[in-house]
Amino acid sequence: MRKARFITLEGIDGAGKSTQMPKIEAVLKSHGVEYVMTREPGGTPVGEKLREILLHQAMEPETEALMMFASRAEHIATVIKPALEKGKWVISDRFTDASFAYQGGGRGIPFDRLENLEQWVQKGFQPDLTLLFDVPVEIARKRLSKNESLDRFEHEREAFFERVRKAYLDRASRHPERFLVMDSSLSIEAIHAGIEQAISSLCP
Ligand code: ADP
Ligand code: TYD
Repeated sequence: MRKARFITLEGIDGAGKSTQMPKIEAVLKSHGVEYVMTREPGGTPVGEKLREILLHQAMEPETEALMMFASRAEHIATVIKPALEKGKWVISDRFTDASFAYQGGGRGIPFDRLENLEQWVQKGFQPDLTLLFDVPVEIARKRLSKNESLDRFEHEREAFFERVRKAYLDRASRHPERFLVMDSSLSIEAIHAGIEQAISSLCP
């Protein structure tokens, strides 16, 4: 029996993560893998309350960064680690790379501060695989424009998302052992095929 895996999904808003979620579940089911699907910010009762504030209430960048990591501390301790210990795989729609991309790249919080929080909250714990849905900002924005209600992050300007995208790509090049960068400008089916291959290769 292989160990349970922790997989995270990342990318700028509108990259197509949510669209691929049911497809990821289908791959795991086809391999008979027990799993938990979760998200950040959120994934716990405390985290979901923090999410509501984070997505809709204006605040200082440092407050935002600390709340993201507060949600994460609760998530790791009460959901992610207990599931992995029971042999269940955990698939999280966003994790710490999003803090480096959005609060670091987007808002300008120094990366060494975020590294301190990462170390405090994670103590070396990292995903086994991070799927980065990478897409030019212009394409992501066109996709998002079909949505009726946008949250506080989705209202940001193009330059913000350019910085977020760059920070994600920098982080991927720094951690090539766990990142898989996917070309998310491709069709939904082509992206799914890439994901299927990556996840199947980890499955028992
Ligand atoms: P995210 O969860 O990354 O913010 P979504 O999965 O909600 O993005 O996708 C945003 C919009 O783009 C949706 O309307 C979705 O149908 C569409 N979409 C997602 N993936 C693709 C793709 N590969 N090609 C074209 N449109 C896509
Ligand atoms: P998400 O649930 O992916 O939103 P959607 O499903 O609408 O695409 O993420 C919510 C927002 O939170 C997203 O804009 C990115 C932001 N975020 C951060 O800024 N930092 C973080 O650490 C995390 C986890 C998310």
